[in-house]
Amino acid sequence: METITVEAPAKVNLTLDVKYKRGDGYHELESVMHQIGLIDRVVIRPEPTGAIRVRSNNPALPDDQTNLAYQAAQLFLSEYKCGAGVDISIEKNIPLGAGLAGGSSDAAAVLWGMNLLFNYKRGPEELSATASRLGSDVPFCLSGKVSHPSPGGIIAGCGATALARGRGEVLELLPECRLPWILLVKPDFQVSTREVYQNLKLDEVTVRPDTRAFLAAWQDCDMMNIAKKLVNVLESISTKMYPQIAAIKAGMIRYGALNALMSGSGPTVFGIFAERTAAQRAREKFSHDYREVFLVSSYGGGEANAGTEIIAG
Ligand code: C5P
Repeated sequence: METITVEAPAKVNLTLDVKYKRGDGYHELESVMHQIGLIDRVVIRPEPTGAIRVRSNNPALPDDQTNLAYQAAQLFLSEYKCGAGVDISIEKNIPLGAGLAGGSSDAAAVLWGMNLLFNYKRGPEELSATASRLGSDVPFCLSGKVSHPSPGGIIAGCGATALARGRGEVLELLPECRLPWILLVKPDFQVSTREVYQNLKLDEVTVRPDTRAFLAAWQDCDMMNIAKKLVNVLESISTKMYPQIAAIKAGMIRYGALNALMSGSGPTVFGIFAERTAAQRAREKFSHDYREVFLVSSYGGGEANAGTEIIAG
């Protein structure tokens, strides 16, 4: 196989609870993560010189060892004693530093693509330990990956939702439930995840997700109840640092979202809409003030995903 193209979907956190600070400096999480149809495409080829090369269509994305996709290639080559090089080309659609796990998803796509390209035949679970060395969200981003290309020759995924614990790497896959209209608004700044966690004071957290109730709503794929139970304990921290996040959230509700939430450590806010027309109207309104506005559905493999519409504002 000469070239392999792997889809790298973004994720949103539908709930995010922080239980306590651990001895290793990380925070113990309980979070429902959900893959959405905002997708980077990662093209991987063997590099005859034995080097690692990374390029992308986004000049802001580094092409050196500070890029998580580069680190993924490096780690794969050393852990699996693979005496090859790789050329990685990333079509970047997921905004950077957005709370959408774009970098983590690219890294997962590199691990998965190299696993297939060099015929290592590991399953996603077997690559999970390697993935977690790259970042807390990378194991989730490996979820749902498939081994065979779609008719278009691309390695897609079947779409995953999981309850993540530990640092985010201990995963329990949840049943499929598709959210038809998810509107994402990313304000024009990036947030440092590390800084948000540093500013978190656990004894001051007043609102936490009811994860058990959320899981019951998810099990029934009950959109109204899913929307009602969206809570992220990092939201108030990031909002204190960047009040614009609260303004976007209020806008989502005003424009008809069932509910809205900041994803991860932010700053992206997503709104869940029941109807296409309301979601499209909201997208138009936000597009006057924000460059990065995306209307998507849940990420789902094969034919289901053919209906997914990515509309950039
Ligand atoms: O794992 P990752 O490199 O993505 O995490 C970035 C930073 O976010 C960590 O260095 C840590 O400060 C913080 N973090 C945390 N607890 C987690 C995940 C991330 O404190 N469960």
